[in-house]
Amino acid sequence: MIKIAPSILSADFAFLGDEVRKLEKAGADWLHIDVMDGHFVPALTFGAQIVASVRPLSSLFFDCHLMVETPSAFIDDFVLAGADLITVHAETDKHLHRLLNAIKSKKNGRGEFVKAGLSLNPATAIGAIEELLPEADLILLMSVNPGFAGQRFIEQTVAKICKLKDLLLKTGSKALIQVDGGINQHTAGAVVKAGADILVSGSAIFGAADMRAMMDKLRGQGNGVPSDA
Ligand code: DX5
Ligand code: ZN
Repeated sequence: MIKIAPSILSADFAFLGDEVRKLEKAGADWLHIDVMDGHFVPALTFGAQIVASVRPLSSLFFDCHLMVETPSAFIDDFVLAGADLITVHAETDKHLHRLLNAIKSKKNGRGEFVKAGLSLNPATAIGAIEELLPEADLILLMSVNPGFAGQRFIEQTVAKICKLKDLLLKTGSKALIQVDGGINQHTAGAVVKAGADILVSGSAIFGAADMRAMMDKLRGQGNGVPSDA
Protein backbone atom coordinates (compact mmCIF):
# COMPACT_ATOMS: atom_id res chain seq x y z
CA MET A 1 0.00 0.00 0.00
CA ILE A 2 1.34 3.40 -1.01
CA LYS A 3 1.95 5.76 1.90
CA ILE A 4 1.36 9.50 1.71
CA ALA A 5 3.69 11.83 3.59
CA PRO A 6 2.37 15.40 3.43
CA SER A 7 5.11 18.01 3.69
CA ILE A 8 4.48 20.72 6.27
CA LEU A 9 6.59 23.06 4.15
CA SER A 10 3.30 24.18 2.60
CA ALA A 11 1.51 24.57 5.96
CA ASP A 12 0.52 27.88 7.54
CA PHE A 13 3.25 28.12 10.18
CA ALA A 14 1.18 30.48 12.32
CA PHE A 15 -1.14 27.51 12.94
CA LEU A 16 1.30 24.63 12.62
CA GLY A 17 -0.26 22.51 15.37
CA ASP A 18 -3.72 22.82 13.80
CA GLU A 19 -2.32 22.02 10.36
CA VAL A 20 -0.69 18.83 11.66
CA ARG A 21 -3.90 17.75 13.42
CA LYS A 22 -5.82 18.43 10.20
CA LEU A 23 -3.43 16.24 8.18
CA GLU A 24 -3.67 13.40 10.69
CA LYS A 25 -7.46 13.58 10.72
CA ALA A 26 -7.50 13.56 6.91
CA GLY A 27 -5.61 10.26 6.82
CA ALA A 28 -1.94 11.16 6.38
CA ASP A 29 0.33 8.15 6.83
CA TRP A 30 3.51 10.03 7.76
CA LEU A 31 4.39 13.65 8.46
CA HIS A 32 7.19 14.92 6.21
CA ILE A 33 9.27 17.60 7.93
CA ASP A 34 11.53 19.64 5.64
CA VAL A 35 14.49 21.06 7.54
CA MET A 36 16.53 23.59 5.54
CA ASP A 37 19.63 25.44 6.67
CA GLY A 38 20.13 28.18 4.07
CA HIS A 39 23.44 26.54 3.03
CA PHE A 40 22.74 23.15 1.49
CA VAL A 41 19.60 24.73 0.02
CA PRO A 42 18.89 28.44 -0.31
CA ALA A 43 15.94 28.57 2.07
CA LEU A 44 15.73 28.38 5.86
CA THR A 45 12.85 26.62 7.55
CA PHE A 46 13.02 25.41 11.15
CA GLY A 47 14.95 23.20 13.50
CA ALA A 48 14.42 20.51 16.10
CA GLN A 49 12.69 22.84 18.57
CA ILE A 50 9.67 23.19 16.29
CA VAL A 51 9.54 19.42 15.81
CA ALA A 52 9.61 18.93 19.59
CA SER A 53 6.72 21.38 19.98
CA VAL A 54 4.55 19.54 17.49
CA ARG A 55 5.43 16.02 18.71
CA PRO A 56 2.91 15.90 21.59
CA LEU A 57 0.09 16.89 19.22
CA SER A 58 0.36 13.95 16.87
CA SER A 59 0.96 10.23 16.80
CA LEU A 60 1.99 10.31 13.13
CA PHE A 61 5.34 8.88 12.06
CA PHE A 62 7.72 11.87 11.97
CA ASP A 63 9.77 11.75 8.77
CA CYS A 64 12.53 14.36 9.08
CA HIS A 65 14.20 15.33 5.80
CA LEU A 66 17.41 17.15 6.67
CA MET A 67 18.48 19.45 3.84
CA VAL A 68 21.44 20.72 5.83
CA GLU A 69 25.16 20.82 5.20
CA THR A 70 26.30 19.12 8.41
CA PRO A 71 23.57 16.61 9.29
CA SER A 72 25.76 14.75 11.79
CA ALA A 73 25.66 17.82 14.06
CA PHE A 74 21.86 17.65 14.35
CA ILE A 75 21.05 13.95 14.74
CA ASP A 76 20.81 13.95 18.55
CA ASP A 77 18.60 17.06 18.53
CA PHE A 78 16.13 15.50 16.11
CA VAL A 79 16.08 12.19 17.95
CA LEU A 80 15.29 14.03 21.19
CA ALA A 81 12.65 16.07 19.38
CA GLY A 82 10.84 12.86 18.43
CA ALA A 83 11.93 11.95 14.91
CA ASP A 84 10.99 8.43 13.78
CA LEU A 85 13.03 8.62 10.58
CA ILE A 86 15.95 10.90 9.81
CA THR A 87 16.91 11.26 6.17
CA VAL A 88 20.25 12.83 5.26
CA HIS A 89 21.51 13.86 1.84
CA ALA A 90 24.24 11.76 0.23
CA GLU A 91 25.82 15.01 -1.00
CA THR A 92 26.45 16.31 2.52
CA ASP A 93 28.67 13.91 4.44
CA LYS A 94 31.91 12.07 3.61
CA HIS A 95 31.19 9.24 6.05
CA LEU A 96 27.65 8.22 5.24
CA HIS A 97 28.11 4.64 6.42
CA ARG A 98 28.99 5.90 9.89
CA LEU A 99 26.23 8.50 9.85
CA LEU A 100 23.47 6.04 8.88
CA ASN A 101 24.57 3.61 11.56
CA ALA A 102 24.73 6.41 14.14
CA ILE A 103 21.11 7.30 13.33
CA LYS A 104 19.99 3.66 13.55
CA SER A 105 21.66 3.20 16.94
CA LYS A 106 19.35 5.81 18.54
CA LYS A 107 15.96 5.14 20.10
CA ASN A 108 12.99 7.47 19.85
CA GLY A 109 10.65 8.48 22.68
CA ARG A 110 8.65 5.25 22.23
CA GLY A 111 11.75 3.11 22.70
CA GLU A 112 11.96 2.13 19.02
CA PHE A 113 15.10 2.42 16.94
CA VAL A 114 15.12 5.49 14.70
CA LYS A 115 15.12 4.71 10.98
CA ALA A 116 17.78 6.10 8.66
CA GLY A 117 17.10 7.45 5.19
CA LEU A 118 19.45 8.54 2.44
CA SER A 119 18.44 11.16 -0.10
CA LEU A 120 19.74 11.91 -3.57
CA ASN A 121 19.42 15.19 -5.45
CA PRO A 122 18.28 14.91 -9.07
CA ALA A 123 21.92 15.30 -10.21
CA THR A 124 23.30 12.52 -7.99
CA ALA A 125 23.53 9.06 -9.53
CA ILE A 126 22.25 5.99 -7.72
CA GLY A 127 25.71 4.46 -8.08
CA ALA A 128 26.91 6.93 -5.43
CA ILE A 129 25.03 5.00 -2.73
CA GLU A 130 25.00 1.45 -4.09
CA GLU A 131 27.26 0.15 -1.30
CA LEU A 132 25.00 1.73 1.31
CA LEU A 133 21.74 0.09 0.26
CA PRO A 134 21.98 -2.56 3.00
CA GLU A 135 22.40 0.18 5.62
CA ALA A 136 19.50 2.43 4.62
CA ASP A 137 15.89 1.94 5.71
CA LEU A 138 14.72 4.31 2.99
CA ILE A 139 16.05 5.97 -0.14
CA LEU A 140 14.55 9.37 -0.91
CA LEU A 141 14.81 10.35 -4.55
CA MET A 142 14.34 14.08 -5.04
CA SER A 143 12.16 14.77 -8.04
CA VAL A 144 12.89 18.51 -7.86
CA ASN A 145 16.03 20.36 -6.80
CA PRO A 146 15.47 20.70 -3.06
CA GLY A 147 14.75 24.05 -1.47
CA PHE A 148 11.24 25.08 -2.38
CA ALA A 149 7.71 23.78 -2.54
CA GLY A 150 5.64 24.03 -5.70
CA GLN A 151 8.28 23.12 -8.29
CA ARG A 152 7.72 21.09 -11.43
CA PHE A 153 8.35 17.33 -11.28
CA ILE A 154 11.54 16.29 -13.11
CA GLU A 155 10.46 13.51 -15.49
CA GLN A 156 13.82 11.69 -15.51
CA THR A 157 13.07 10.67 -11.93
CA VAL A 158 10.75 7.93 -13.21
CA ALA A 159 13.65 6.08 -14.88
CA LYS A 160 15.76 6.63 -11.75
CA ILE A 161 13.07 5.01 -9.57
CA CYS A 162 12.99 1.96 -11.90
CA LYS A 163 16.78 1.70 -11.72
CA LEU A 164 16.75 1.92 -7.93
CA LYS A 165 13.94 -0.64 -7.64
CA ASP A 166 15.95 -3.10 -9.78
CA LEU A 167 19.03 -2.56 -7.67
CA LEU A 168 17.11 -3.09 -4.43
CA LEU A 169 15.71 -6.35 -5.76
CA LYS A 170 19.13 -7.50 -6.96
CA THR A 171 20.85 -6.71 -3.69
CA GLY A 172 18.01 -7.96 -1.50
CA SER A 173 17.79 -4.58 0.21
CA LYS A 174 14.52 -3.90 2.03
CA ALA A 175 14.90 -0.12 1.77
CA LEU A 176 11.71 1.74 0.93
CA ILE A 177 11.61 4.17 -1.99
CA GLN A 178 10.32 7.66 -1.24
CA VAL A 179 9.86 10.35 -3.88
CA ASP A 180 9.69 14.06 -3.08
CA GLY A 181 8.90 17.10 -5.19
CA GLY A 182 6.21 18.01 -7.68
CA ILE A 183 3.98 15.06 -6.74
CA ASN A 184 0.35 15.64 -7.66
CA GLN A 185 -2.53 13.71 -9.26
CA HIS A 186 -0.85 14.01 -12.66
CA THR A 187 2.65 12.82 -11.71
CA ALA A 188 1.92 10.27 -8.95
CA GLY A 189 0.78 7.50 -11.30
CA ALA A 190 4.12 7.10 -13.09
CA VAL A 191 6.01 7.33 -9.80
CA VAL A 192 3.93 4.58 -8.21
CA LYS A 193 4.16 2.35 -11.29
CA ALA A 194 7.94 2.76 -11.30
CA GLY A 195 8.11 1.39 -7.75
CA ALA A 196 7.76 4.18 -5.19
CA ASP A 197 6.47 3.19 -1.74
CA ILE A 198 6.00 6.62 -0.16
CA LEU A 199 4.95 9.85 -1.86
CA VAL A 200 5.81 13.21 -0.33
CA SER A 201 3.50 16.02 -1.34
CA GLY A 202 3.20 19.59 -0.13
CA SER A 203 1.41 21.99 -2.44
CA ALA A 204 -0.97 19.44 -3.97
CA ILE A 205 -2.31 18.46 -0.52
CA PHE A 206 -2.37 21.91 1.08
CA GLY A 207 -3.81 23.41 -2.12
CA ALA A 208 -6.64 20.88 -2.28
CA ALA A 209 -10.16 21.78 -1.17
CA ASP A 210 -10.39 18.31 0.39
CA MET A 211 -7.08 16.99 1.77
CA ARG A 212 -8.43 13.49 2.36
CA ALA A 213 -9.73 13.21 -1.20
CA MET A 214 -6.37 14.40 -2.57
CA MET A 215 -4.42 11.89 -0.46
CA ASP A 216 -6.76 9.10 -1.59
CA LYS A 217 -6.31 10.23 -5.18
CA LEU A 218 -2.50 10.15 -4.85
CA ARG A 219 -2.63 6.73 -3.19
CA GLY A 220 -4.87 5.40 -5.94
CA GLN A 221 -2.59 6.46 -8.77
CA GLY A 222 -0.92 3.62 -10.60
CA ASN A 223 -3.96 1.46 -9.89
CA GLY A 224 -5.97 2.46 -12.91
CA VAL A 225 -7.41 5.68 -11.47
CA PRO A 226 -7.38 8.23 -14.29
CA SER A 227 -5.01 11.15 -13.62
CA ASP A 228 -7.71 13.79 -13.91
CA ALA A 229 -10.23 11.90 -11.74
C1 DX5 B 1 11.59 20.35 -1.43
C2 DX5 B 1 11.03 19.61 -0.25
C3 DX5 B 1 9.72 18.97 -0.52
C4 DX5 B 1 8.64 19.92 -0.87
C5 DX5 B 1 7.58 19.23 -1.67
O1 DX5 B 1 12.85 20.81 -1.13
O2 DX5 B 1 11.91 18.60 0.18
O3 DX5 B 1 9.31 18.11 0.54
O4 DX5 B 1 8.04 20.51 0.24
O5 DX5 B 1 6.68 20.19 -2.06
P1 DX5 B 1 5.80 20.04 -3.38
O6 DX5 B 1 4.94 18.85 -3.17
O7 DX5 B 1 5.05 21.32 -3.41
O8 DX5 B 1 6.75 19.88 -4.51
ZN1 ZN C 1 11.27 16.90 1.61
